[in-house]
Amino acid sequence: MEIISYLVYLVASILFIFGMKKLGSPKTARQGNFLSALGMFLAIVITLFDQHVLTYEYIILGLVVGSAIGALLAIKVSMTGMPQMVGLLNGFGGGASALVALAEFYNILNHQGRVFELSTSITIILSILIGAVTFTGSFIAFGKLQGFVTGKVVKYPMQNPLNVILFIAVIALGVVVVLDPNNTINYVYIILGISLLLGVLLVLPIGGADMPVAISLLNSYSGLAASMTGFVLKNNMLIIAGALVGASGIILTIIMCKGMNRSLMNVVLGGWADAGSGGDSSTGAGPQGDVKSVDAEEAAMIFDSAQSVIIVPGYGMAVAQAQHAIRDLMNVLEKKNINVRFAIHPVAGRMPGHMNVLLAEAQVPYDKLYALEDINDDFNNTDVVLVIGANDVVNPAARNDKNSPIYGMPILNVDYAKTVIINKRSMNVGYAGIQNELFFYPNSLMYFGDAKEAIAKLTNELKEL
Ligand code: TAP
Repeated sequence: MEIISYLVYLVASILFIFGMKKLGSPKTARQGNFLSALGMFLAIVITLFDQHVLTYEYIILGLVVGSAIGALLAIKVSMTGMPQMVGLLNGFGGGASALVALAEFYNILNHQGRVFELSTSITIILSILIGAVTFTGSFIAFGKLQGFVTGKVVKYPMQNPLNVILFIAVIALGVVVVLDPNNTINYVYIILGISLLLGVLLVLPIGGADMPVAISLLNSYSGLAASMTGFVLKNNMLIIAGALVGASGIILTIIMCKGMNRSLMNVVLGGWADAGSGGDSSTGAGPQGDVKSVDAEEAAMIFDSAQSVIIVPGYGMAVAQAQHAIRDLMNVLEKKNINVRFAIHPVAGRMPGHMNVLLAEAQVPYDKLYALEDINDDFNNTDVVLVIGANDVVNPAARNDKNSPIYGMPILNVDYAKTVIINKRSMNVGYAGIQNELFFYPNSLMYFGDAKEAIAKLTNELKEL
């Protein structure tokens, strides 16, 4: 039996790796999801057989209830609610790892003839530490995004020294436990308590709008915790699966930080105090003054005489759920033999892949979506750019204004196109809380209105021409 379970765990691990690879492209993402789910199914089945479970009632009950909750959430949760959903799931993963490690500690303690190996007691402590931090940290992240906990940057006295002291205390207690695991169970509980507190204290200072980055980081922690638990249980598949989650989580965190031109430390220490406040309209150093605006009819005439169009979606498209309206516009433009492409900024919207998922949902073909580095040189040769609900990701201050908080952030060079039509509801700022000098450029035209309605109107006008 042992050899069979090893083999099945190996197959499951391979399925995870291939699944992950396929998640790299929207075309193969569904397949990737399926392969990974199949791997997890195989792993669960073989674990149940291998562990000689005698009564399956509770397990089946757990499976049914868990699957029902999972299915309900998957159907109900909107795309914009996805970051907090992922946050919640990370939290459960971290909590489970901490509980399994604690249970194994008890198992060894109460089993005659079993002794603590050094590597096992070290990984049990690490599992409890990382798992518990992930658990409470993720719940605070969820609360911030859902509005249960203040989304503001929360500063408290001695913030960083206190966290460092608590961390050192956990490590010191951990060393005591590792040196004498048989007589220090109370210390394990103290480690658990401090780790739970650390999770709260570490995530509380992070501003609500920075939460997607924090959640991605916590996702990476939950992978690390699972990997540690794999070492505790000597289960290779858990080690591999945890390492995959840990590595992909940290890669995603780095991509998000780069896309925002922020350091991880700056995000984690709650550096960008006003991020996401939305209401401020502080101006940059670039051109200001009056903006030119167009109505649907005038915008339609400009599109009608174009040969090439690039559409740049942003957070506003997601809020307005305008992706279907955009797809209709694309179809009408293409019927008029106008070349239409989409330029996707890596941090457009509020979560990784936000725009890709919405446009895929609206059946916009994948091959029309271009990443920043693949399309940025083409704006020069483009007749019309339609910016829909995007703001920061097209703000030229990132190139021109050294004092701007987004200076250095890679942006889509929409201002290089002949004409830029910007659809949003008002002159309000975006996530970074700063005015956008693009709106005042001579080749920019504002097209005010809610994205869904405004784009539908524009499409109707175009059809008439
Ligand atoms: P933002 O800069 O946040 O701008 C979105 C704009 O959409 C707003 O200025 C708003 O203007 C407009 N809008 C809102 N509702 C609308 C509606 N119903 N119809 C039309 N327009 C609407 O968005 P962006 O350009 O996508 O940039 C993303 C920002 O989020 C970046 O600063 C990025 O660093 C940050 N961020 C991204 C992520 C990820 S991973 N994507 C994670 C954390 C933070 P009005 O109010 O005037 O309509």
